[in-house]
Order: sequence, then structure tokens, then C-alpha cells
Amino acid sequence: MASSSSFLRLILLFSSTFFIKAATTAPPSLQHRFTSIFSFGDSLADTGNLILTDNTSRLGRPPYGETYFYRPTGRASDGRLVVDFIAEALGIPLLSPYLGHKSKDFNKGVNFAVAGATALDTLIGYGAATLFVPGNLPIGCSASYLSFFSSNNKGNYDPSGFSKGGLRACCGGGGPYNYNTSAACGIQGFTVCEDPSSYISWDGMHLTEAAYKWIANFLLQHSSLIPDHISIL
Ligand SMILES: *[C@@H]1O[C@H](CO)[C@@H](O)[C@H](O)[C@H]1NC(C)=O
Ligand SMILES: *[C@@H]1O[C@H](CO)[C@@H](O)[C@H](O)[C@H]1NC(C)=O
Repeated sequence: MASSSSFLRLILLFSSTFFIKAATTAPPSLQHRFTSIFSFGDSLADTGNLILTDNTSRLGRPPYGETYFYRPTGRASDGRLVVDFIAEALGIPLLSPYLGHKSKDFNKGVNFAVAGATALDTLIGYGAATLFVPGNLPIGCSASYLSFFSSNNKGNYDPSGFSKGGLRACCGGGGPYNYNTSAACGIQGFTVCEDPSSYISWDGMHLTEAAYKWIANFLLQHSSLIPDHISIL
């Protein structure tokens, strides 16, 4: 075990990588395995960095955030993201965006999502131990891709035939998948579904809190996938 630190740091890169700084002895329970999370990535993991640099972003407008925070926080969903559910499960506070961080105290971690690539290099330089890459979401099934590459041949679509919100976006401006570039969620001319938790897709590109919760639970239940020795997968 290479780490000299007595702390364990879970580092998430969405889409989607874990960085773990392992301690000399890791107790089996996940709850006590990590004391901080450092998150990198894109809009799947951003908890507010983008809107701090671009106050015109739709992520800073309703209905983003309506399910959990009751206000837009810059998260690209109606509520919490995978990184939020993982933090909750580990007993760590929800990560503040790096750009909004008032102090230099990153004891519980911080979210660099948006600025991922260079920050990642820095971390490797500091000796981050383990990188875990579970992969990207199946974005080919997102309402936006299905709309851009639509087909009249029903056989080209999922034969299991999700018809009640499996592929349609909860928040959008019409069309077969409720995804319309002229009426995007948060901008104008869009409608929001009654019950986002019955949808997978929130805005045609990003997922609902309910879907992110499902993913987070899967990752937590399969935490044995997270290696605890130095490696890059
Ligand atoms: C966004 O920021 C610009 C530049 O600081 C400012 O002029 C503008 O009023 C802001 N817009 C909103 C909606 O806050
Ligand atoms: C997409 O949005 C535009 C602008 O609101 C609207 O005119 C158009 O009818 C919408 N398309 C569909 C398929 O609903």
C-alpha cells in the first residue's frame, strides 16, 4: 500500500472515475472507508461550477433543482447527482463547487467537475493512488440523440418498448422524445412532467435524480469493484 496518509479520499470523475487514496488498513465498511471526496468531470458531476462562470446557463434556472433543492443549484438534474448520493451514503457533506469554495479547507473534499482534466494531472502529481473508470452513460439512448438520429423504423429502437417515460425527457419542448432544441428545458417553451421520478431522462441529455440514485446505489452495492491498490484501469 503506497499511501502514507491516514485518510482515505474518494475521488470521483464523471463520467466516471474514482480516485481513491487508500489507507494502510481499510476497514471493510464503506461508511468508514472514506473521509473526503474529490470529484472531477462534466455536467454529470457539476454541483455548481458552470453557473459560477456563466450566469446565463439554463442550469441556473428553474425547473432545475425542483425535486430536492427547490431551487437551481447548477446541477444538471431535478435534484441530486450520483456524487451527492455517494457523499450521503459515506456520511460526507454534499460537495461544494470549487469555484464557490470560500476557504482553502478541502478536508471533506471538493468538486472540480468542469475543470477536470488539468486538475486530474495535478492530483496524479500529488500521488493519488487509484483510478477507477466504470464508463460513460449510454448516451445513445438519450432523448437528444434519439431525436437527432430519429428513424421511422421501429425495429431500430429498443425492442422492449419503453413507452412510459423510459426514453422521453421529463422536461422539454415537444417531439417524440420531448426534446426540442428550439424549446430546451429551462429556456422557454418547455413543459415539465408531473413526476420526474417516473422518468429516466430529465432534460433529454441529463438524468433525473431518481435515475442518478439508482446508479449511485448500484455503484455502492458493487463497491468491491473499487480496487484498493495502485492501478489505473
Ligand atoms: C451576469 O453577469 C453579468 C456580468 O457580471 C451581469 O452584467 C449580468 O447582469 C448577470 N446576469 C444575471 C442574470 O445575473
Ligand atoms: C419545438 O419548439 C418550437 C418553438 O417553441 C415549436 O414551434 C415547435 O412546434 C416544437 N416542435 C415540436 C415537435 O413540438
